[in-house]
Amino acid sequence: MVDVQQEFLQSFIGKPAIDLPTPAFVLNKPIVQRNCQRLHEDVKSLGIKFRPHVKTLKSEEVTRLMLGDAARGCVASTLREIRGLLPLAKEGLLDEVLYGLPVRPGALPQLLEYSKTVKVLVMIDHESQIDALEKFAEANAVSTPWSAFIKIDMGTQRAGKPLASPHLKPLINRIESSPAVSIYGFYCHAGHSYGSRSKEAAAEVLHDEVNAAVEATALMEKPDTPVVISFGSTPTAHVVYTLKKSLPSHMTLELHAGNFPANDLQQLGTGCIDENDQAIRILSEVCSVYPERNEALVNAGCIALAREPGPIPGYGRVVGNSEWHVGRVSQEHGILVNHAEEGKKSKAEDAFKVGDLVFLHVQHACITAAAHYYYFVVDEQDVVREIWYPWKGW
Ligand SMILES: Cc1ncc(COP(=O)(O)O)c(C=O)c1O
Repeated sequence: MVDVQQEFLQSFIGKPAIDLPTPAFVLNKPIVQRNCQRLHEDVKSLGIKFRPHVKTLKSEEVTRLMLGDAARGCVASTLREIRGLLPLAKEGLLDEVLYGLPVRPGALPQLLEYSKTVKVLVMIDHESQIDALEKFAEANAVSTPWSAFIKIDMGTQRAGKPLASPHLKPLINRIESSPAVSIYGFYCHAGHSYGSRSKEAAAEVLHDEVNAAVEATALMEKPDTPVVISFGSTPTAHVVYTLKKSLPSHMTLELHAGNFPANDLQQLGTGCIDENDQAIRILSEVCSVYPERNEALVNAGCIALAREPGPIPGYGRVVGNSEWHVGRVSQEHGILVNHAEEGKKSKAEDAFKVGDLVFLHVQHACITAAAHYYYFVVDEQDVVREIWYPWKGW
């Protein structure tokens, strides 16, 4: 439940974004469409599959745009997201969803329920998960094996088994012999691609992702089994057009990515996007100005923006006046500071007046979006046309 009147939100439709109540999450639909279309064109011209991750904007409307006519499968990071996708499966737009966390026993009853509507794939990186799937299949008379991606850790040290792990081959072979689970493919997500500072660097990570998944297939007892090689992250997706890989015919290449419809300062920091590829802004209001310390205070703190770091300084950057960024945050306060060289800094009292409305680009769209209960969706003229309600909770 959102503690705000629907009529109040709807009353902003047709109004300029600058008139919104602050802090407001403003989503530019034409930019989202353009970001999706660009990736769709790339995967189509490469002739590879595409699997968008829905975790960034957690929204049915955005998922429709991410799928377009380029994808029929998704990745989700929570059960709530999968629940949100069921209407798309019922409409015939979506065939399968990968539950993108290493599969945990506690999720199985719900995953089984959802699999009545959409094919649910699971992610495996430990043998105990196979024990759990076998036990669950026996207890619940599940006769169809779960299709599984084996997660390879590319060095991010989040989920997955590193290629060099002595446990990887036994894990793969155990799945091959299990009645409860079958290998769908190998999944590489190089989170450290966010450390790239150029398209060339991101392209190198992209090739590492694909090569790692391909190398893992050699550990199978039956290496000619058809498998999907799933690779990607938004920085590597932005350079997917550089992919030059011809694989044996039993391997299908698939790109996955999540942040790409939104983009943010972290993506800008990789050197793979332009400033105007960012679809999200937070509208905030200047509450005070402090000439003594050359700072100003806006009503967007770490709840409205997120406390995420990035190579571009600050927790948010002022759109159209990029020498100013949110340098410090507390819960509902953001402090605008100037990072221009000493002697070249403009003055806070010249740049901002109490009551000014300031748009901010954010560091990490996924985390910022998670704090907002509704998105004001604007057109090319920055006029609010729709309100979208993201999926909340887990
Ligand atoms: C398992 C998995 N796949 C894909 C993605 C998408 O990555 P990105 O948002 O960089 O596109 C994520 C993001 O965290 C992820 O956890």
